[in-house]
Amino acid sequence: MDHQAFPQFSFDVCIVGTGRVGLPLGLSLIEAGVAAIGYDVSAELRDAVNAGVMPFQEPGYEELISSRKFRVEATPAVVSECASIIVTVGTPLHNHVETDLSQIQRVLEDLAPHLRPGQLLCLRSTVSPGTTEFARKWIERHTDFTVGRDFFVAFCPERLAEGKAYVEVRTLPQIIGTQDAGSRARADALFERLTEEILHTDFVTAELVKLFNNILRYVHFALANNFAMIADDFGANIYEARRLANHHYPRSFLAAPGLTAGTCLRKDFGMINEWNPYPDMFLSAWKLNEYVPNFLVENLRQRVELHDKVVVILGFSFKADTDDVRDSLVPKLWRYIHRQLPAEIRVSDHNLADPIPEPSIRSPRNWPVAEAVAGAEVVFVATNHTGYREVLEQLATDSPEAWVSDIWNVGGIDQVFYKAGQLLERPATGPVARGADATHDVGRVVTR
Ligand SMILES: NC(=O)c1ccc[n+]([C@@H]2O[C@H](COP(=O)([O-])OP(=O)(O)OC[C@H]3O[C@@H](n4cnc5c(N)ncnc54)[C@H](O)[C@@H]3O)[C@@H](O)[C@H]2O)c1
Repeated sequence: MDHQAFPQFSFDVCIVGTGRVGLPLGLSLIEAGVAAIGYDVSAELRDAVNAGVMPFQEPGYEELISSRKFRVEATPAVVSECASIIVTVGTPLHNHVETDLSQIQRVLEDLAPHLRPGQLLCLRSTVSPGTTEFARKWIERHTDFTVGRDFFVAFCPERLAEGKAYVEVRTLPQIIGTQDAGSRARADALFERLTEEILHTDFVTAELVKLFNNILRYVHFALANNFAMIADDFGANIYEARRLANHHYPRSFLAAPGLTAGTCLRKDFGMINEWNPYPDMFLSAWKLNEYVPNFLVENLRQRVELHDKVVVILGFSFKADTDDVRDSLVPKLWRYIHRQLPAEIRVSDHNLADPIPEPSIRSPRNWPVAEAVAGAEVVFVATNHTGYREVLEQLATDSPEAWVSDIWNVGGIDQVFYKAGQLLERPATGPVARGADATHDVGRVVTR
């Protein structure tokens, strides 16, 4: 078909799946002058966005969302009015180590009757290698289009960190994976309006780049957690060891330990792991990161028993300063604490509603933080939210004998396990790892 014969469209882009990735993207496109609209199956999310309210925390978008220039529709038919379609639905794993393609498959089925000649379909969800080729073949089987001639397909991964979307969606280099010149030109024309730097490759390389970025972080953090466990076995100080290892040594960038999870890091390794049957480094990283809650409980129990104690968990989301609890390790930490039959477990996270939505532990009450720590005998700092150092300092004054488990070094005295009163004895030297990208404080060197 002659390109001139392609229909004109009312919108430049439709974002399909306007969640934590799709909504910031849609809003940033609007800000860049792109005529963008959304489509999402969640009525709750649509109602919030169309009322001008962010349905989750993502700083920087308050003005854009309240302008109501970005609308989210309830019907896939809206895509027929859009020159490009960007798919940002969830891509979980099945319970086994196996990619769950059902959301991508459903999108293709829902959109197929509404596709028009000349459109670009761009996958942006994180996908298993081969998924974009699956989508290309699916479209050619279920429509009259030939990709590269009268329909266009690209894989353009999203690599931003939650909490930093507003900046990173415009500043990270955009990788564009295509298999034909027409799709490449269409994807370029779209993303040039958003980002300055564009890098080209094929479908599978673009898919792998996204997975490699996330798996690198996951394995790196696993190593940091492994080193923390080894240091504790030797009675050594992981924070000091890390600081010395990194200090002015150009070949070391050891991350800080932490509770490593979250919906992306925890699932993305599986998208490569499913391709080989052997035990390997990724599975070891998974096991190490998954062991951290047990390590924190068992190694604290070598100092103090939890049985019959008032135990507080500070933070419930998977990383600092977010309200995202998906795949957080804190429910698992709660369950290990619960096995010790403490007198009470109080959970506090100022980013979340009360009760905390967590079916596996029957939605615990979300305590105001001052109430939670009053009379606490043991405190686990499970997330490094802003403000927790001050909470620990108050605890040190009020309950100096309370034990603290502080894997994030929020107290800043370079100890994983300590009595709160120690915070008053030693000046805080360590970092407070906070912010979306400082989850593990990669590469920071703090000198005494
Ligand atoms: N959250 C992150 O920080 C991040 C960063 C980079 C990449 N990713 C990847 O981006 C993808 C989306 O992640 P997310 O965190 O935005 O997920 P999310 O759950 O917040 O958003 C997905 C949205 O898609 C909607 N949806 C599901 N099926 C649909 C369908 N058939 N039609 C229309 N809408 C549908 C859901 O209602 C939801 O609002 C995943 O592949 C994820 O791995 C996430």
